[in-house]
Amino acid sequence: MTNLITIERIADHVGQRVTIRGWLYDLTPKGKLLFLRLRDGTGLTQGVAYRPEVGDELFERLAHLGQESSLIVSGTVKANDRAPGVPRGYEIAVEEAEVLQDAVGYPITPKEHGVEFLMDNRHLWLRSSKQWAIMRVRATIKRAIIDFFDSRGFLNIDTPIITPSAAEGTSTLFEVGYFDDKAYLAQTGQLYNEANIMAFGKVYCFGPTFRAEKSKTRRHLAEFWMVEPEIAFCDLEQLMALEEEFVSTVVGRALDERANELAVLERDVTALRNVVAPFPRISYDEAVQRVQAIRDATDDPELKEQLAIEWGDDFGSPHETELTKQFDRPVFVYGYPTAVKAFYMEPWPGRPEVCKSVDLLAPEGYGEIIGGSERMSDPEVLLAAIRRHELPEANYQWYIDLRRYGSVPHSGFGLGLERTVTWVCGIEHIRQTSPFPRTLNRMTP
Ligand code: 4AD
Ligand code: MG
Repeated sequence: MTNLITIERIADHVGQRVTIRGWLYDLTPKGKLLFLRLRDGTGLTQGVAYRPEVGDELFERLAHLGQESSLIVSGTVKANDRAPGVPRGYEIAVEEAEVLQDAVGYPITPKEHGVEFLMDNRHLWLRSSKQWAIMRVRATIKRAIIDFFDSRGFLNIDTPIITPSAAEGTSTLFEVGYFDDKAYLAQTGQLYNEANIMAFGKVYCFGPTFRAEKSKTRRHLAEFWMVEPEIAFCDLEQLMALEEEFVSTVVGRALDERANELAVLERDVTALRNVVAPFPRISYDEAVQRVQAIRDATDDPELKEQLAIEWGDDFGSPHETELTKQFDRPVFVYGYPTAVKAFYMEPWPGRPEVCKSVDLLAPEGYGEIIGGSERMSDPEVLLAAIRRHELPEANYQWYIDLRRYGSVPHSGFGLGLERTVTWVCGIEHIRQTSPFPRTLNRMTP
């Protein structure tokens, strides 16, 4: 095999005779020419077979190949502005080809399919160019997240997946058997990271988390990845500064490294270029007033109803969507009512009905991508909160201990990987950002 290359690097090989190994994406005959769209996992390019060049036998063989047939193709790389592909602008003048398998009856054809059909065939759908592009953006975002924290003195530390009790509310726990006992899949690694920072200063965990969300929304998965940094000696202001630097860096990496994939997704990248720190900061109080003003101003009765909100209510998707339309970049909403947030958040000084929480809401209607807060530092206040939330006290003794032995102000946040990928890719539904998503009504394939 001569000069095996990947399509991703095809630009480096113009004028050379190369070999690529992959699959037939689709095929268009045009007289003596055959346009073969070939993909190899790293990209998509056009192979052009010319009958007088390849001979009748090979031409006929190729002309009758089914979609997704596997093959090895050799030929000369040419630059051609009009050639479609990822990257675009290149093609291969086919000289030889070896067919490994002629695939018959591939179920996903270029025509439109319903999303349930596509999800049933997720093991095949992943080969389609948009799904392929999303996974490549996801991998880059993941890498950018790790690089961000590793280069800023955070220790990467793993937190357990099997846990004895809740951290983010008892209504979304997945129960698992644990020998003779009951346990739950982790909703978050945060509580363990609060122990970790007292040993290591600044840490992050990055792994799968689980929520038995009973709602079918386009923002919820039952299994998703979350990165959770936690920082000793950090208050709410410093936390927001870290978040905006983090999110703008990650989005910048996706723009730099995945321009081709974002083009496949037809993403409007001008919106992403606005994602530059600082981000606006508004209080929950102000956010409620803004939503109420939008509600009062709209003529759409359905929207009016969806936007009903009083001080003290949590925001739902419609509230977040309308609020974020007022900004061209992510917006911080801080100081939520204590009653709608998790038990561990530090009370606002002089306003115990409010806590030092902050959510980061993505623009263009994508909503919450980060939840974070300053953590409670007083052991007595924390114990009272645990009791108020009716959590099993004995399981939280170690967590309260952290406030007894060298308690310091500390903060942290969690960013959902799939929500972030959904936004960066500009797609409709979160399920497409996970290779094999788990949702309320699906855990196959
Ligand atoms: O706001 P959440 O629930 O915060 C926590 O879990 C904190 N313990 C994080 C921390 O402070 N260390 O979740 C954080 C983020 C959300 O903003 C969202 O991006 C994502 O996790 N998330 C989900 N993503 C997909 N599907 C779900 N069901 C999600 N639930 C939360
Ligand atoms: Mg949240």
